[in-house]
Amino acid sequence: MDLAGQRIVVVGGSSGIGRAAATLFVEQGADVVVAARSAEKLADLAAAVPGLATEQVDATDRRSLDAMFARLGPFDHLVVCFSSGGGSGPFASLDLDALHRAFTGKTLSHLATVQASLPTLRRGGSVTLVTAASAQSALPGTVGLASVNGALEAAVRPLATELAPTRVNAVSPGLVETPLWDGMPPSARAGFFTDVAGRTPAGRVARPDEIAVTLAMLVMSTFVTGHVVVADGGLHLAR
Ligand SMILES: NC(=O)c1ccc[n+]([C@@H]2O[C@H](COP(=O)([O-])OP(=O)(O)OC[C@H]3O[C@@H](n4cnc5c(N)ncnc54)[C@H](OP(=O)(O)O)[C@@H]3O)[C@@H](O)[C@H]2O)c1
Repeated sequence: MDLAGQRIVVVGGSSGIGRAAATLFVEQGADVVVAARSAEKLADLAAAVPGLATEQVDATDRRSLDAMFARLGPFDHLVVCFSSGGGSGPFASLDLDALHRAFTGKTLSHLATVQASLPTLRRGGSVTLVTAASAQSALPGTVGLASVNGALEAAVRPLATELAPTRVNAVSPGLVETPLWDGMPPSARAGFFTDVAGRTPAGRVARPDEIAVTLAMLVMSTFVTGHVVVADGGLHLAR
């Protein structure tokens, strides 16, 4: 199987998991458009991966999404890979305003991205969301993340029936070493990674390309729909 002749739009694809997926899609012969906010990061990616096209979009802004999909015209597969961050921490002191922003920045904006894509996404193509393993694990301090990502995972099945024959799936990653964690001081980040990884069967955090493989599998699997595939190194088993 390859992706030759398939046009794929990766929203949130200029860094981390999305960037790895976009790179893999290009290697598999797809015609790839990566959309994100920072022109600098998009230019860096375009220079690194010849043949890949970029679009500047803010997926929290519906007008920005509508304008982008209108510019792009028809395509076959949508991959949605961004988040606003926020929403983590012990429940008793969880900042509910931050959690509200996390719902807006991820749950609602993923749904808005899918909705905005519908006029130009090929019927019978696919949608693949990136959620998070917090939705299916029980680590203390993840009530907010579990809520944001669990709501999105709950939407996958009814989306798959409503949008059929277009397939709808999600990949639910565990801890992945990406720029998402750049805001954390390096020593705290290293300690956090070691602690969480040590509780999982895999015993380590993932590289973005390991999650990209699962995304590509779902894009290519023409008989799979309504599924959330957990790629978490066994984080859902951790306590
Ligand atoms: N890394 C992990 O450990 C981990 C674990 C579980 C789940 N996830 C999920 O995996 C997804 C990807 O995360 P990542 O680790 O790859 O993050 P990342 O490296 O920070 O990449 C996020 C990408 O999304 C883009 N983006 C952010 N906000 C956007 C917006 N409003 N509109 C358009 N693009 C936007 C970013 O570019 P701009 O900032 O330039 O827009 C960037 O290209 C997220 O949904 C995250 O919740 C990550």
